[in-house]
Amino acid sequence: MDGEILENRQITPVTWIMKVHAPDAAPHMKAGQFVNLETSKDLVPLLRRPMSIHRVVEHQGIASGFCVLYDVIGPGTRNLANMRKGQKIGFIGPLGNTLHVPPGARRSVLIAGGVGIGPIKIVAETLQAMGLRDITLVYGARDSDHSVPVKEAAPDGCRVLVCTDDGSVGRKGFVTEIVAELIEGGRLTPGDYVFTCGPVAMFKAVRDLLAPHGIEAEAATEEYMGCGFGVCFGCPLKQRQEDGSIAYKLCCVDGSLFPLETLVLEGDPE
Ligand SMILES: Cc1cc2nc3c(=O)[nH]c(=O)nc-3n(C[C@H](O)[C@H](O)[C@H](O)COP(=O)(O)OP(=O)(O)OC[C@H]3O[C@@H](n4cnc5c(N)ncnc54)[C@H](O)[C@@H]3O)c2cc1C
Ligand code: FES
Repeated sequence: MDGEILENRQITPVTWIMKVHAPDAAPHMKAGQFVNLETSKDLVPLLRRPMSIHRVVEHQGIASGFCVLYDVIGPGTRNLANMRKGQKIGFIGPLGNTLHVPPGARRSVLIAGGVGIGPIKIVAETLQAMGLRDITLVYGARDSDHSVPVKEAAPDGCRVLVCTDDGSVGRKGFVTEIVAELIEGGRLTPGDYVFTCGPVAMFKAVRDLLAPHGIEAEAATEEYMGCGFGVCFGCPLKQRQEDGSIAYKLCCVDGSLFPLETLVLEGDPE
């Protein structure tokens, strides 16, 4: 499928938001899903690059396109950043599963690290549309160069708590310190909907913090991908099953959202 780039703007020294006109696909896009973007018509990079849907764009109340928020880190994302308004971009999507909000959840905490901020806006907007009013985003970035402005990260009406490793934006420290305070203050309890996206080290720290309190979370995982739709078997991850055994799952079709506590993460005992 081809979309037309409506906007491609830089929001930090390393982060961009691309808005794509895609009226056929946009009405089907849901929070937590991703698109696989063609970054070049040349052979290199050959593989499309998966990007979380950051927002669905509406025109006169009808979904007409989508945005992705991305960090420029290698050849694919460099190509994305060089694309201009009016250019066509090939994509496959929407791909992957969507949110599993527990029935009766009245409160939500979203935990994002680094470019894991990508899917947060559409997740928060979706929760608001479901009637959840008490939404807190805990967002950690490396430094001010990597910290996405709050207005780009989350919709109005969310409480946003920001930290950076060096204290250049928000408070100095890690998201887990803020999440620990929410738990201690009774502002995060079992039954709340927790969504998290970020590096594996953050997943492990968040899991180890939530598990003793019986708080579950949904994790947006990121594995290297080929096809994006279950054909190449290029995106396996390990998941602990109810009987204790470990099964391989595909990030692209079985996820990319999984219950955090079921994931066998790098370095975990098996
Ligand atoms: C489901 C999904 C959703 C994603 N959503 C976003 C998003 O919203 N915004 C965003 O900026 N990025 C997102 N990513 C990651 C993004 O796809 C990669 O950053 C991108 O493919 C890098 O391409 P590149 O050619 O620029 O860099 P490459 O040369 O491919 O990679 C540059 C560096 O990044 C590392 N890297 C690349 N891809 C991954 C990956 N999937 N997991 C871990 N490390 C990786 C490589 O090891 C290398 O060190 C997502 C990935 C997945 C699987
Ligand atoms: S990317 Fe091909 S199977 Fe998941």
